[in-house]
Amino acid sequence: MTADATDGLKRAAAERALDWVDDGMVLGLGTGSTVAHFLQLLGERIRSGKLRDVVGVPTSVRTGREARQHGIELVGLADVPSVDLTVDGADEVSPRLDLIKGMGGALLREKMVAQASGRVLIIADGGKVVERLGTRSPLPVEVVDWGYGVHTRFLESQGAQVSVRMMEDGPPFKTDNGNLILDCRFPDGIADPHALDVALQCRAGVVETGLFLGLAHVAVVAGAEGVQVMEAVP
Ligand code: A5P
Repeated sequence: MTADATDGLKRAAAERALDWVDDGMVLGLGTGSTVAHFLQLLGERIRSGKLRDVVGVPTSVRTGREARQHGIELVGLADVPSVDLTVDGADEVSPRLDLIKGMGGALLREKMVAQASGRVLIIADGGKVVERLGTRSPLPVEVVDWGYGVHTRFLESQGAQVSVRMMEDGPPFKTDNGNLILDCRFPDGIADPHALDVALQCRAGVVETGLFLGLAHVAVVAGAEGVQVMEAVP
């Protein structure tokens, strides 16, 4: 599939997600190229008066900038009692709506906002759906940079091939929180995502993992045959 065709699918998923947005909502605004379409469409609805009193909690500096450009009012996560609905992208979506996220580097704030949300809706093109997590995307792991090599050795012992994410022009990529990302490729996928997440969360210096397990309620997935709505089984 061409990049243009994939982008059209991302837009189709973003457009359908607007069906879940109502007047007066506090929205968590995810990060990435799929969410960029959602922000544009949301801004159009707000400016046309079809949606009123909607405010957004951005999950990254990038999203804050894009949302402001589209005229979306922003608030901080700590400034609202709760978030009604978060709309975010994903790098992988499993049939039970477990996710890998973080290829845009915003996994920590994305997970904080998702955990504070009444509902989490994922928008994606059909290429993101996988039977087993880790088969399409590396798993991003955010770590403090001091002594990060110790995690590399630990992750390798868990079967990962680890690379430090770099900027295109050379230096290591730094998240909005000033941390590094270790991208972990698992040649056969991740056999037990829950066990891996627990093992990683126990490591001092690991800030967050890109495993979003049991957090998504709905996924809107656009493919060549149309838009499919997947619901998490409670
Ligand atoms: C950002 O950190 C990620 O979690 C994104 O949500 C994910 O990478 C999907 O991005 P795209 O919509 O650009 O594919």
